[in-house]
Amino acid sequence: MKPVIQSKLPRVSTTIFTIMSALAAEHQAINLGQGYPDFMMSEELVALVNDAMQKGHNQYTHMHGLALLREKIAEKAHYLYSAKINPETDITITPGGTYAIYTALTTILQPGDEVIVFEPAYDSYIPNIEINGAVPVPIPLIFPEYAPDGYRIDWNLVKQKVTATTKLIMLNSPHNPTGSILGKTDIEQLRSIVRDTGIFILSDEVYEHLIFDDKKHESMLRYPDLLERSFVCFSFGKTYHCTGWKMGYCIAPAAMMKEFRKVHQFNCFSCSSPVQYALAEYLQQKEPYLLMGTQLQQKRDYFQQLMMQTKFKPLPTYGSYFQLYSYKDITDEQEKEFAIRLTKEYGVAAIPASAFYVKENDNKVLRFCFVKKEATLEAAVNRLIRI
Ligand SMILES: Cc1ncc(COP(=O)(O)O)c(C=O)c1O
Repeated sequence: MKPVIQSKLPRVSTTIFTIMSALAAEHQAINLGQGYPDFMMSEELVALVNDAMQKGHNQYTHMHGLALLREKIAEKAHYLYSAKINPETDITITPGGTYAIYTALTTILQPGDEVIVFEPAYDSYIPNIEINGAVPVPIPLIFPEYAPDGYRIDWNLVKQKVTATTKLIMLNSPHNPTGSILGKTDIEQLRSIVRDTGIFILSDEVYEHLIFDDKKHESMLRYPDLLERSFVCFSFGKTYHCTGWKMGYCIAPAAMMKEFRKVHQFNCFSCSSPVQYALAEYLQQKEPYLLMGTQLQQKRDYFQQLMMQTKFKPLPTYGSYFQLYSYKDITDEQEKEFAIRLTKEYGVAAIPASAFYVKENDNKVLRFCFVKKEATLEAAVNRLIRI
């Protein structure tokens, strides 16, 4: 008898990202589906990694991450958010933001725990909850047709969904795929809900620097009363346009981080040493991360300006790599159907927003990644104009 796997994730199949990328390659489409830059990252940072390798930093480093890098992160958290973070006890370097999220969820979730997660949601959240035997409680964001500021959290609905078994609320700001961000009132609402409860917060802040229009990033690190119950996850891949390096970190209070490290220790143990040496040095410069928002805003604005020649209608985006467009004025095809046709017939790949929901959802919205060279954006829009 052959062994048979009883799937821990029976509902998970090939993701739409893989499907659309394969389709894009097959039809030589311009790929605005995938969320990564097609331009060169900082040459200086590349050189720093090379230097670190040449200097012999090629062996395992500390399980919590290189001490110097953790110190620099703590200094940055203080400079940006006035947060008092102990680099010894409160920070762990991880191989990317997704890993930090998975580790945090695995650290706290017990079978049957409920986790509030807002949809559309980054695709790893729900499988990561389910693999831990916990129960996702998806709450749809208010669709911006009815909210001029973009997709918003319906806090009244959150209050109704909180139960005695709610273990965690997951947040993501700036948000993938909508580009919406948390505001001051969201923080107040969140506070009023979690106060006097044992609810944890997982805050996915991988796009913390990719924020536009002089908006302020509402990090959990700003609020000691929220930070005391939060795992806050970050990604160097997003901050420095090196998504393929898979490097990030998690910040949490010492007692929570102690448990996080137990899970991390026997999963990854420690991350790339030369990259950590390079990042520790590069983080000492503030400009690269402070200017990132303005640089990406120029890309968003350029893409929006080009797209005005098409029949697509933009939804507000204040951060991240992404811009959602409504195609309601073009066709009433289902999102996935239209995304496939767009790739095959017009040669531009985008991601249907419905891919970020558990249940059927069809607002006639596609996600485009605008973090591309101007020439790439121009070539894509020249194709979209034909529709
Ligand atoms: C919302 C969100 N969180 C986390 C990640 C993953 O970051 P990393 O590549 O560092 O794992 C992404 C990447 O697309 C994302 O969009």
